[in-house]
Amino acid sequence: MHGNTNGDAGSRTIRGFRFFSALLTEPEQFRIIDDIRDVAAAAPLFEPVTPSGKRMSVRMTSAGSLGWVADRKGYRYQPTHPSGRPWPPIPESVLDVWRRIAECKTEPDSCLVNLYGQNARMGMHQDADEANLAWPVVSISLGDDALFRVGNKTRGGTTESVWLRSGDVVVMGGSARLLHHGVDRIKFGTSRLLAKGGRLNLTLRVAG
Ligand code: SIN
Ligand code: MN
Repeated sequence: MHGNTNGDAGSRTIRGFRFFSALLTEPEQFRIIDDIRDVAAAAPLFEPVTPSGKRMSVRMTSAGSLGWVADRKGYRYQPTHPSGRPWPPIPESVLDVWRRIAECKTEPDSCLVNLYGQNARMGMHQDADEANLAWPVVSISLGDDALFRVGNKTRGGTTESVWLRSGDVVVMGGSARLLHHGVDRIKFGTSRLLAKGGRLNLTLRVAG
């Protein structure tokens, strides 16, 4: 059983996405960062390109039996890092977050690691490459604050924005599973969790 000692923890729902603010204590956040450092040592961060050849502004890697990649051939899950080696296992510290909050007995088989530097962003998109969309996506924010935007099932229309802070967790599931979402910008230097600044986002999914 995990207690929450952050004091200002709380949850709210926006358009069906559940936002748990300050779910993770600082020691839990540091533990995850250490474990992700090991993941990145085994499966180095790379700069993905979109199928049209545009470089994405985040750097990326994965853990689990499947990892998400973007390249000239398209967007997909695959069992190996671009180097050809299998992805490392998802750290227990990260799986624990899913077990606490996903309300789903099936364990994730994919953890996408996105590193946002000073000018990185993520355009509005749906998470729709998974084989079974019944399972939720759990998103963990670590490091600098990020302006996260939630939209609609179809592209366009009104949106709502919320600042995500280090230790916040978002569950995108149920009828909200296919809502468009993205990150407009990060506020570089707002957290000291990462020695060089920036933001780490982890998304856990049942992909296969
Ligand atoms: C994503 O949707 O893949 C990332 C969301 C985030 O960085 O908060
Ligand atoms: Mn997404």
